Amino acid sequence: MNLDTSKIIEDIKQNGYYIAKSLIPLETFTLARKEAIHFFSENNLQNKNLPTALRGGVKAGMIDNYGYASNKSWKIYRLCSFPWNRTPSQLENTINLSRKVSKLRNRIIGLDDDYGSYIENDNYIQYTSLSLYPPQGGFLNKHKDSHTVEEKIPIIHFKIELTIKNKDYKEGGFTIWDRNNKEISVSDLIEPGDVLFFDGTLPHEIKPISGEIGRIALFEIPTYVDPNFRDLEYFGDGVEISFLGKLKIKLISFINKFLND
Ligand SMILES: [Fe+2]
Repeated sequence: MNLDTSKIIEDIKQNGYYIAKSLIPLETFTLARKEAIHFFSENNLQNKNLPTALRGGVKAGMIDNYGYASNKSWKIYRLCSFPWNRTPSQLENTINLSRKVSKLRNRIIGLDDDYGSYIENDNYIQYTSLSLYPPQGGFLNKHKDSHTVEEKIPIIHFKIELTIKNKDYKEGGFTIWDRNNKEISVSDLIEPGDVLFFDGTLPHEIKPISGEIGRIALFEIPTYVDPNFRDLEYFGDGVEISFLGKLKIKLISFINKFLND
């Protein structure tokens, strides 16, 4: 994936987005696409017992989350796969592709390739998000992205659309308002293997999806893990644990569970 990154930077500065045409070899794209479609068809989409889809609030060491949400903000099935967990074997090609493009995105914004593959000293990470916006009205409200902490790292996202508008679904899709506030229906411009890079602080949304498979998209979310859960005291290895110590462990575990439910 060699690319003239200066052209991307220039276009993002000027317009707020850039579409890298055919960046992903078709064979690689097809493998990921097949895996992702299979993943969502295997995981019963009618199952309302799924946990709530994740939107922020990541704690170090969390298990991967495959969830569903349908409310006024969004309607979505989303798998969040964290870099500290083993890659799910049924999505190996998909997640590898996401992490590879993430390295390229890092290079574009001047970070080390693997920045965020581990929890950095300032709690920064990146994790894979694979979403299905279902054909019966899947959507994401218009919003701008921001970090929860004051940060210098620019929010430049990439998006890989694994299903294609006018082929896998008819209506809706990814829309961005560029630096001139012009509405761009990006999903109408994307072909297999293309990668969208954009400034996440510009307004964007997924307009309601209808028809066929729905919209499946892949990207890597840059964020910060909750610092409160990294600073836990160490117990064990012959250390006599007091009653209060045991109580503290139980309380921390209870709070963790409560916050993650
Ligand atoms: Fe966003």
